[in-house]
Amino acid sequence: MMKKYVFGTPFETEAVIRDIPAESSAVPYFALSTHNGLEFSLELESRDAVYGLGESVRGINKRGYTYSTFCADDPNHTEATRSLYGAHNFIVIEQKDRVFGVFFDCPSTVNFDVAFTNADKLIISSDNTNMYVYIIDGSTIYEIIREFRNAIGMSYIPPMWAFGYTQCRWSYLSKDEIREVVRRHRELHIPLDAVYLDIDYMERYKDFTIDEENFGDLEGFAKEMKEQGIRLVPIIDAGVKIEEGYDVYEEGVEKGYFCKDAEGKPFEACVWPGMTHFPDFLNPEARQWFGAKYKILTDMGMEGFCNDMNAPAIFFSQNSVDKTAQMVKEKAGKEFTIDDFRELQGYLGSRQNCEEDYSGFYHDTPQGRYCHKDVHNLYGYNMTRSAAEGLKAAEPDKRFLLFSRASYIGMHRYSGIWTGDNHSWWSHILAELKVLPGLNMCGFLYVGADLGGFGCECSRDLLLRWLSLGIFTPLMRNHSALGTRYQECYRFENPEDFKHIINLRYRLIPYLYSEYMKAALKGDMYFKPLAFEYPQDEVARHTEDQLLIGNEIMIAPVYTQNAMGRYVYLPEDMTAVRMNAGKLTLTEMSKGHHFVEIAENEVVFYIRKGKAIPLCKSAETTEELNTAELELIGTGDEYLLYTDDGMGFDFENPDNFRLLKK
Ligand code: NOJ
Repeated sequence: MMKKYVFGTPFETEAVIRDIPAESSAVPYFALSTHNGLEFSLELESRDAVYGLGESVRGINKRGYTYSTFCADDPNHTEATRSLYGAHNFIVIEQKDRVFGVFFDCPSTVNFDVAFTNADKLIISSDNTNMYVYIIDGSTIYEIIREFRNAIGMSYIPPMWAFGYTQCRWSYLSKDEIREVVRRHRELHIPLDAVYLDIDYMERYKDFTIDEENFGDLEGFAKEMKEQGIRLVPIIDAGVKIEEGYDVYEEGVEKGYFCKDAEGKPFEACVWPGMTHFPDFLNPEARQWFGAKYKILTDMGMEGFCNDMNAPAIFFSQNSVDKTAQMVKEKAGKEFTIDDFRELQGYLGSRQNCEEDYSGFYHDTPQGRYCHKDVHNLYGYNMTRSAAEGLKAAEPDKRFLLFSRASYIGMHRYSGIWTGDNHSWWSHILAELKVLPGLNMCGFLYVGADLGGFGCECSRDLLLRWLSLGIFTPLMRNHSALGTRYQECYRFENPEDFKHIINLRYRLIPYLYSEYMKAALKGDMYFKPLAFEYPQDEVARHTEDQLLIGNEIMIAPVYTQNAMGRYVYLPEDMTAVRMNAGKLTLTEMSKGHHFVEIAENEVVFYIRKGKAIPLCKSAETTEELNTAELELIGTGDEYLLYTDDGMGFDFENPDNFRLLKK
């Protein structure tokens, strides 16, 4: 049962698409204070847990820290960070005698102090007094999540090929460089389905243009790649370069489709292309106009897109420059103290994506004119909606790969997300593992991190371990930043070790795709915390470095350096499946604690008691997989397989389900 409570005049975010009448009574469970914005508080007992918050740091149970949902651009995030790239205000609170969900539908910052300031209090606050609050009651966590997910609409379903292994780099600088990446994968028989085109495929970082010198005849190149089973996936940035003669810029200005500054002129901010304007994605006409541009690239054979810098990320705008100049001027000619130094250093270090930037521009929406800072979290969402709608109009019968960096609940209907810039740090492997269930709760099923880490130098052992988790994430993309060590699998010794791990991914695709589709169709989770599945088992409730994948598999990846294995908790008897040099061996293991040795080039996962999973033979692309010949492994006798054509929209057809028997 989902109930809606209204505060002030909320912005219609279209996160919830089911029609729910507003209640006239007060929000239940919480004490409300309106002294300073809105503040909802709730007493927590020590065993109570709070789950959700989508893309956020720290535990699966969010207790013990304070979070702010504000789409950020923070490649250096650590567990101290309060906001990540997405803003997802949905939580489920599990208390002694009740469990319920809450969604704060508010497009600006909401703070979640989860037993941090007071060890026994949950305090949710916002300066924004206009919002919808939804309370979802149910008897289990899954029931609440299903109810919420049904209200926010079905999650995005990518094409089947998007479950393949994909390779990215900021940037491959020419077609020849990409040819070489593909050649090396094929030569070593490392499966590969797609290569990304990061910003350098464009002419001076201008959206929907091509750098003719290095990427000329992109259409011919897409065909050439397709013959080798490779799809090309370009990046699109939010900022449109200001340049006379550039059609996207000129059309946007002429039609008034860019966000405006306080004087009504198109707002200017610096991003990769230099000074840019931001399309006003909250204006439906502008959204349609920008979305239609993706056809320029689909006509050249592009089958997927990655929407980036769409918080929007701002290096600087004149507003922040003026403030900085004023500050420096005030200090000039006076004695400069250590306090001045600290103040200036702190100030200069926080200039990107700052308050002055976000309060300096406006959106013309059907609901009126809004200052960006009040609707900030909707920008990436609506850029991606624009892309999805444009792609649908261009090719209505085809699924495209689409994922975004910034997001808000509602965007999950249009695309997936990747978890933004991370680092080649062991801690970021564990951070990824922990973020996955929360994302699923909020509807984001097609998710994954930059495998191997985006920033810093990737090492062989780190990549092997990260891939061992990555083979279970729907989006499986190796990506690294400019100036860092190249981290394609073939750059390291014994590339066959990488090949075996990625081969296992391809063998599992019939299972992973089936479980993904079941989760999408029913509003269920693909990544489940042990706490949700075994709520009566205290150890399982506290085990946050293992996950269930769908209904049959449990994973317990290694995420520490120099480990020869790890401790694993089995909440029930399970079959351990060990992949060593491409061979699988099955061992029955009993419920309880175990130390499981796992060499760097091995993968171990677990099949639950009485369940079976299908495996196919591996292949070098998803299209070459033979899903007609499947082997069932595990102690169960049957498995409900989902298959479809992998590219159309006939999801509900009952023929898509087939019961496989041993
Ligand atoms: C930031 C994105 O997060 C990253 O993935 C990309 O490579 C760079 N922008 C350059 O486009």
